[in-house]
Amino acid sequence: MFTDDDLSSLRWADGRVEIIDQTLLPHELRWLTLTELPDFCHAIAAMQVRGAPLIGITAAYGLARALVDDASDDGLRQASDTLAATRPTAVNLRWALEQVAAAVSNLPQGARADEALACAHRLRAEDIAVCGSIGETGLQFLPEDTGGTLNIMTHCNAGWLATIQWGTALAPIYKAHAQGRNVHVWVSETRPRNQGMNLTAWELQRAGVPCTIVADNSCGLLMQRGQVDCVIVGSDRTAANGDVCNKVGTYLKALAASAHAVPFYVALPVSTIDWQCPSGAEIPIEERGAEELLSFLGRDSDGSLRTVTGGPEQAIVANPAFDITPASLVTRLLTEHGAVAASAEALAELHNRVI
Ligand code: MRU
Repeated sequence: MFTDDDLSSLRWADGRVEIIDQTLLPHELRWLTLTELPDFCHAIAAMQVRGAPLIGITAAYGLARALVDDASDDGLRQASDTLAATRPTAVNLRWALEQVAAAVSNLPQGARADEALACAHRLRAEDIAVCGSIGETGLQFLPEDTGGTLNIMTHCNAGWLATIQWGTALAPIYKAHAQGRNVHVWVSETRPRNQGMNLTAWELQRAGVPCTIVADNSCGLLMQRGQVDCVIVGSDRTAANGDVCNKVGTYLKALAASAHAVPFYVALPVSTIDWQCPSGAEIPIEERGAEELLSFLGRDSDGSLRTVTGGPEQAIVANPAFDITPASLVTRLLTEHGAVAASAEALAELHNRVI
C-alpha cells in the first residue's frame, strides 16, 4: 500500500521538509513546511509530529538545517542539545541526533550540512524499510487464519503517522489486511490526547481496515469477554531488560492481557532500545500540561473547529504521558530483526547480533 510518497508523515519537497500537522487530525489534513531550527523544535514539542521514530527523523532534518547556519563543533552541540530537549522519553530522538553527529563530526565544517542532510534522508528511507520488516515479523505471530475475524487491540498511534510509512504496531495489521485476512482493530481512544481516536482510527479507515474506537477503560472488559485475540502496541523506549515504556495506559492493557491470557506484543525498531538503560525505572517520563487533560478539540454542530475546556477552574492536574510495562508482561518484542523475548538475555543476544 505505501507506494505513494504522499502517503507518508514527513516528505522532502522542493528542498524543504514538509510534515502533516497531526494536532489537526482527523479534522483537517494540513501540510506544514519546517524552515528554521525553531520550527523543527516547535513541531516536536507541540506534537505536530509525534511517535518515537518520526520525532527522531524530524530532529535529524532539524539538525541538518541548523548546520547550514553554524557547522562548528559548538553549533553542532548546541543545535543537538536544543532538539534533544524537546521531548524527554522517546530514545529515537537522541539516537537519530547521534547518527547525524557521527556522520559529520570528522568532516570539515564546509561539508557538514550536506552530509547531515544526506544522513537524514538515509534515516527516513531506512525507517520505511525497517517498519516493513517489523510488519513481516509481526505477521508470523498473528493467530492462525481460521476464517473468522481476527480482533487486534492497539493503543495510542504506532502507525505510519508515528513513523514515515507502515508504522510499527500497525505494520502487521496492514500486511494482514493486504493478504485478505479478516482483521478488525479495537482502537483505544488514548486519553488525554486521543491519538487512538484521532490518528489510528483515521489511518485505519483510510486504509479500509475495519476498526472500532473504544474508551480506554473498556479494554479490560473486552479481554474478559474473549473479544481480543492479541494486543500490539509500539514503544518509545525499551530498556535493556525488556521493560517497555509506551503511551500511558499501555501498562493497564498489559495487566489485563496477562490476566486473560491474551498475547501482548510490542512492535519496535531496534533504534527504540536503550542499551544503556538497565530497566524501566530509569526511563524519564514526560509530564505534559494540564490543558491536554482538560480541553478537547472537536467540531461544533455547525461544523467549526472549537476547543472546549472541562474540570473546575484552577483544577490541579497531573499528566504523565507514558508508563512502564514490566518485561514479564510482554509476550514478544517484534523487531526488524525478528521476534525476541523481553529479557536481558535475549536483548543481549540481539545486541551482539545486530549492533
Ligand atoms: O506522545 P506520542 O504521541 O509521541 O506517543 C506515541 C507513542 O506512545 C507510540 O506508541 C510510540 O511512540 C511508538 S510509535 C511507532
